Amino acid sequence: MQVCSNNQQIADVVSIWKSQGKTIALVPTMGGLHAGHLSLVHQAKANADKVIVSIFVNPTQFGEHEDFKNYPSTLDQDLSELEFCKVDAVFTPDKEQIYPNGLDSPLKAGSLSQGLCSNSRPGHFDGVVQVVNCLFKITTPDVAIFGQKDYQQLLVIEQMVKTLTLPITILSGDIVREKNGLAMSTRNQYLSMDEKELATNLYKALKGLKQEILQGKEIELSRLNSNRALEQHFKIEYLSVVDANTLKSIVDNTTQIAILCSVFLGSTRLIDNIIFNKG
Ligand code: PAF
Repeated sequence: MQVCSNNQQIADVVSIWKSQGKTIALVPTMGGLHAGHLSLVHQAKANADKVIVSIFVNPTQFGEHEDFKNYPSTLDQDLSELEFCKVDAVFTPDKEQIYPNGLDSPLKAGSLSQGLCSNSRPGHFDGVVQVVNCLFKITTPDVAIFGQKDYQQLLVIEQMVKTLTLPITILSGDIVREKNGLAMSTRNQYLSMDEKELATNLYKALKGLKQEILQGKEIELSRLNSNRALEQHFKIEYLSVVDANTLKSIVDNTTQIAILCSVFLGSTRLIDNIIFNKG
């Protein structure tokens, strides 16, 4: 496994692979790897000849009072797990490699970035598209894989690829959950044992809400009931039931529904979702 910390090194590796006719998959991460990331790596391996994992904690997607400075960094462990998974290259740039001209960017996230996470994290998705576009330019992958847990991010990136007509296929990786249902996240490291137990109520509520919708119950009424149930354990940022393609209200020709939520447990922000056919 090659570990490249500068743009030229990874570009050279990529150019050799391309001259050999190999296809390339990129799995962008911010490190703090867990089984969810590793499942994206396996998906990448199944969809391309060579796999690059990038590890870069992107300053431009964090708000002023967020956890950029304390974001879990487990580089040695991440590298040994990626080596074990037989990843071909890991790209570990610093800020100067990614943003040689400073942090400002003319690129803005598209319409799908409006609402939901953006309400509490203004500018977050602008930072995400900025860094992902830089990573795409440097590594020029054929395929890139993003987890469904960050569902709005996934749609925002798909929209960016479409708008910029980038020749990159975006694949979505299933949410990987702990045995008790808690969606895996690097930020779960912030939770105490008691909080981890309480956090299981999130997925239970989403599953209950999905069940009620599929049973034909009035969506807004069910959503309000679930909201009330969640309020017993969490501070809720949003619990939304929307069209999974537009992130807007469900309409007659909606085919897939997304139940999306963001909550705080203590000072830890948790997001989760369920996507399903309207039935
Ligand atoms: O999902 C993440 O870990 C990050 O938002 C990403 C896509 C690596 C961009 O920094």
